[in-house]
Amino acid sequence: MRFIKPATAALAIAMLLTACNTVQATETTTTTAANVTTTAAPAETQPAVTTLSDKFAGKTYRLPAYAETLPNLKDVLAENFLIGTAINTDQLREGTTSLDIALKHYNIFTTENEMKPAYVNPEEGVFDFTAPDKFIEFGEANPDVALRGHTLVWHSQAPQWWFQGSGDGGLATSEELVARMTEYINTTVGRYKGKIKYWDVVNEAFSDSGNGLRAMNEGSFWPDIVGDLDGDGDKYDFMEQAFYIAREADPDAKLIINDYSLEQDPKKLNAFYDAVKSMLEQGVPIDGVGIQAHIQLEWPSVLNFKMAIEKLATLKEINPDLIIQITELDVSMFAWNDQSLTIEMTPENEKKLAVRYADLFDMFREEAAKGNLEAVIMWGYNDGMSWLNGYPVGGRVNHPLLFDRDLIAKPAFWGVVDRTQIDAAVAETL
Ligand code: GLA
Repeated sequence: MRFIKPATAALAIAMLLTACNTVQATETTTTTAANVTTTAAPAETQPAVTTLSDKFAGKTYRLPAYAETLPNLKDVLAENFLIGTAINTDQLREGTTSLDIALKHYNIFTTENEMKPAYVNPEEGVFDFTAPDKFIEFGEANPDVALRGHTLVWHSQAPQWWFQGSGDGGLATSEELVARMTEYINTTVGRYKGKIKYWDVVNEAFSDSGNGLRAMNEGSFWPDIVGDLDGDGDKYDFMEQAFYIAREADPDAKLIINDYSLEQDPKKLNAFYDAVKSMLEQGVPIDGVGIQAHIQLEWPSVLNFKMAIEKLATLKEINPDLIIQITELDVSMFAWNDQSLTIEMTPENEKKLAVRYADLFDMFREEAAKGNLEAVIMWGYNDGMSWLNGYPVGGRVNHPLLFDRDLIAKPAFWGVVDRTQIDAAVAETL
């Protein structure tokens, strides 16, 4: 099979779009895009509040995220990079506190779960854009914000029917899987052409072993089913194909390859780097790399993180316009192998987290000044909504973000805004 090139693909794309739009119009169902590991967000129960409540009057630092007197993150960081959050469309409803917070602090947004293929294309012939459409409406109502589409090609939260078919052992054949991926990208990226600025086209394609692509033993059918389409000896072809199709579906969207542990695992970083380099050299339309950055309080060092950014930035020798984004930042209070359910947020721990965020954001500012960082997106804005309350230890109470469960700015928030304020902010937590 050959790659679909622009001239030959146009008709097929038009036919697919027509077919899929028809299906969508008649079969839209209720979206139930919920990450089982994510606890309920407070948005639905919060009344709309835009003024500082009496409870916090007189306090300087312990202010609610929506308080008018609290600095706006997006203004604080305006000279540096875009600042964003993962969010759910329920949190973007008119009249919610969460919408006020979103618009006060952030200028770039990623849907936490609702644009994942498992929810958009749950069955063959069924596309459900109910929730993604709301996200787009939010973007249209707020033209100053940028939207990220997350994600297109991923082994997790993908519809299982994609990988089943008439091949060996009931698996899909290469042709079947490529056709499904093509239909999905054309339908989804095409539907939101000009409205989604960035797409995470490929997510988590690399092995935790550091030896290249994630394969079936780590839950991904992509490289083995799609195979080496162009006969060049590698199995990057499922990614290459995805980028070519996405480029055609929306030529102006920025197409990102996204992965985790790049900032802390040099072997995985090298495998990712080598693959992206090889694809860029072959002309694959990759516009940017995403470093997820689900990190911990003590790991990795800021220096290792910085070195990862700088290594990826050398890919600008091949694509001078390559962008780098931190796409899913959160800082777990627990070490990776710690099984505890709780950790007390003593003033010492509040300070440790605040200093960690200050160190990270100082480094991010330096990298942005060198042209190496375009955006930092956090994986949620308050501790109550974080997936880290359910992963890797279920029922845990974690504290990885800038606002606490009551939506109060933590010392960590002040660490991002101005590290000289950390001690005073910690003192107010006593
Ligand atoms: C990964 C994915 C995200 C999300 C987070 C954790 O990093 O890219 O979509 O699922 O894990 O919730």
